[in-house]
Amino acid sequence: MKNSLVKTVGILTSGGDAPGLNAAIRAIARTAMDEYGMKVIGIHNGYRGLIDCEYEELKPFDITGILTRGGTILGTSREKPFKYTEENSKTGKNPVESIKQTYKKLALDALVVLGGNGANTTAHMLHQEGLNIIGLPKTIDNDLVGTDITFGFYTAVSVATEAIDRLHTTAHSHNRIMVIEVMGHKAGWLALYAGIAGGGDVIIIPEIPYDVKIINKHLSKRKEEGKSFSIVVVAEGAKSLEEAKLDKKVLKHRRSEMKESIGYRIARELEKETGFVSRVTVLGYLQRGGTPEPYDRILATRFGVEAAHMLARGEFGKMVAIKNDRITAVPLEEISGKIKKVPLTHELILAGRTVGTCFGDK
Ligand code: F6P
Repeated sequence: MKNSLVKTVGILTSGGDAPGLNAAIRAIARTAMDEYGMKVIGIHNGYRGLIDCEYEELKPFDITGILTRGGTILGTSREKPFKYTEENSKTGKNPVESIKQTYKKLALDALVVLGGNGANTTAHMLHQEGLNIIGLPKTIDNDLVGTDITFGFYTAVSVATEAIDRLHTTAHSHNRIMVIEVMGHKAGWLALYAGIAGGGDVIIIPEIPYDVKIINKHLSKRKEEGKSFSIVVVAEGAKSLEEAKLDKKVLKHRRSEMKESIGYRIARELEKETGFVSRVTVLGYLQRGGTPEPYDRILATRFGVEAAHMLARGEFGKMVAIKNDRITAVPLEEISGKIKKVPLTHELILAGRTVGTCFGDK
C-alpha cells in the first residue's frame, strides 16, 4: 500500500443525478481502497445524510458492477445546509453543526463531494468551516466554471440529439414546427450542443435573448424555400428580449407564475406569428437517467482516480477539473457561487450561424 494522509474518507453525491456518478464513486473508492488502504464511507442522500448521520461503509462488493449503471448508488438530495440555522430548521438543530458532528463521529479525515454548482459551493463553505473537502464536477448542464466539461453532459447531449433526430422525421411527415425543450438550468450548453448535433433550425439559449419576430422571419423563409417543417431547440432557461431587460428577481417571480414551461410558450407565440402548426416535446428527466455514454464513464473514472490521489496527498479545498483534456484541480474558492454560461463568441454559435441556424437574435 502507498502512503496516504487520509485514512478514512466519506463520499457523497448531491444535487440532480447525472450519468457517470457511479463510475466516479467506483473510481474513487477502488483507488482509495486498493492503492492506499483507506476506509471508504458512502454517505446517503447527499448533504442530508451528513446531517442525519446516514451512511454505510463501502466494501469492494458494493462497488462492483456499477460502472455502467445510471443514477447514484448513494442516493442524492438538493439539501442546502447553510440555508438553515437552529432557529429556522425543522429539527431545531443547526445543520452545519450536525454535519461537523457526523464528520467527527465517523472519524472522517476528508470528504469527496460529487456535485454541481450548489454542491461545490456548499463544499467550499464547509471547507471554510474546517472540513477537508474535494469536489468533483457533475452535471448534465455543463455549467460549472473551472472545468471544460462536467461528467453527465455528453450523455445528456446524446439523449437530446436522438430525440431531435426522431422529431425530425415526424415533423417532416406532418409539415409542423417541432419545439423541443431541453434542460440546462440557466445555461445553454445542452441546447447548443444537441441543437447543433441534431441540426436544429432554430436554437434558443438563455445567453441570447430571443425575438419571436426574428424566429418567424427565419421559419417563413424556410417555408418559402420549400422546407415545410422546422425544428426549434429551446433551453429551459431561455428568455425573450423583453424578459432579458427585467430585474433578475422580477423575472424569477414571473417565471414561477407561468403555468407552462418556456417550450410551450414559444410554440404558442410561433403558431400565432407564423400560422404554422406547432407541437412541443419537453424532454425532461430522460436526459438525466440511464446508462452513461463511454465518454462520461471515462471522464468520471479519470476524475475519481485523481480525487483519490489528491486525498492521499492531502490536497483539499479543490475541485477536480479537466482543461484541454488534462486532468487538473481548481480551488473551490474560484468556482464557488459562479455559473459558466456559453460565451457569445463560442465557436459552436459561430459555426451554427455559418450553417444557417437561427439563434433568435438576427
Ligand atoms: O441541475 C441539473 C438539472 O437537471 C437542470 O438541468 C434542471 O433544471 C434541474 O436539474 C431540475 O432538477 P430537479 O427537478 O431534480 O430539481
